[in-house]
Amino acid sequence: MAIKGDFFSVKREWSKLKDQILDHYLSPYLAKITMNGYPTRIADCFAGKGAFDDGSEGSPLIIARRVEDAKSFPHPHNSDVKAVFIENKYAAELQGNIAQKPGCEVIPGEYETCVKSFLTSPIRDRNYFFYVDPYGVKSLDFHYFSGLRDANFQTLELLINLNTTGFLREGSRLLKLDLQVPDWADDLDYEKDGLNTTDRMNEIAGGDYWQEVLKSYKRDEIDFHEAEEAFIAGYLQRLDQLFAFTISVPIMERSHHMPKYRLVFATNHHSGFILMATEMNKAWQSVLSNEPDGQLTLFDDATLKGTSIQDRIMAEIASPSELRELLIRLIRKYGFYHSPADYKRAIKEGEGTLFSVTREPATTKTGRLSTSMDYETSTVLVGTGPRISKKSVNMKQPDLL
Ligand SMILES: C[S@@+](CC[C@H](N)C(=O)[O-])C[C@H]1O[C@@H](n2cnc3c(N)ncnc32)[C@H](O)[C@@H]1O
Repeated sequence: MAIKGDFFSVKREWSKLKDQILDHYLSPYLAKITMNGYPTRIADCFAGKGAFDDGSEGSPLIIARRVEDAKSFPHPHNSDVKAVFIENKYAAELQGNIAQKPGCEVIPGEYETCVKSFLTSPIRDRNYFFYVDPYGVKSLDFHYFSGLRDANFQTLELLINLNTTGFLREGSRLLKLDLQVPDWADDLDYEKDGLNTTDRMNEIAGGDYWQEVLKSYKRDEIDFHEAEEAFIAGYLQRLDQLFAFTISVPIMERSHHMPKYRLVFATNHHSGFILMATEMNKAWQSVLSNEPDGQLTLFDDATLKGTSIQDRIMAEIASPSELRELLIRLIRKYGFYHSPADYKRAIKEGEGTLFSVTREPATTKTGRLSTSMDYETSTVLVGTGPRISKKSVNMKQPDLL
């Protein structure tokens, strides 16, 4: 059992899902991103101690392991991969835990100050991945994210832990709505420093849309699950104005439980988006695998009811589509509910009956008809009906992250 108020005594069950997403994403991310030849930096902005008292890895040890792996790829550009760990309280313990790890540096101090120094640095030709995992929401000023985007780094990805229920609870208190809002972080006293105001909450949320969400909940027009969903939808809409692709997954113990928080991802790269959708779906599948009947409960909504995955694909291809674009549209619509691999499998199963698939090149190196669904190495067009005319679509060359 966790000691009340001590975050690092033991890793909570749901934190394992969050770590699984970070861990599994970083490996393919680093393998791809380093191919662009620019230095790559992973910034763990609320790094913590490095390890939990029960011996489990914290985010710094996960990141350090992935950086070490990346450096061992046989690739000319991977030597300049580094991780920086920003921590204001446990920097000394963290330093002890990551000593000897190649390419890792602890920056003792405040996230806010460090972000400002990233923003004022003239160095722009870098790939940055920011992992932002604070206790609560009060450090999550939205304008830091727009600042990072405006800095025009070579590439930029954000993975943010957003405590949506904690936010709504604090918002309800500030608006004096007197709502009962559960918050897993209650015992940790994260937000109670008396400094919050509705203006601060607007700055964190990137707008005041959350106030109307809470008022609707107060008027009983929506339940709390719907309020949480409406809040995250508003947040992603703001983030969509900065990044080409965004996605979030609720981190929870059971599919009918309230999310502990949301993991929010933003990128400008389709490959990163598709990879992250894969990892978020895996985490969601782990939640479902703990359910007695493996059913969707929280997300058992009208969008998903009564339609098969093939119906959902069909609905997206009024005209033939490149597989990659099709996957992006489906992920934007259904989020983490299905993995990109599920969609590809469903298309293959329906190939020749429900779906027509045209590939360029059409044959393999050995002269056989290609059955590839790999949009990185070939162009794959998906339509309905038995066959697509190549002239009916503009064939684009695949590009890499
Ligand atoms: C949720 S914990 C991070 C856990 C860590 N990501 C892990 O997986 O092990 C948040 C950490 O941020 C640190 N922290 C809180 N406010 C900070 C700030 N303004 N700047 C830097 N670190 C901060 C806390 O001391 C704490 O160690």
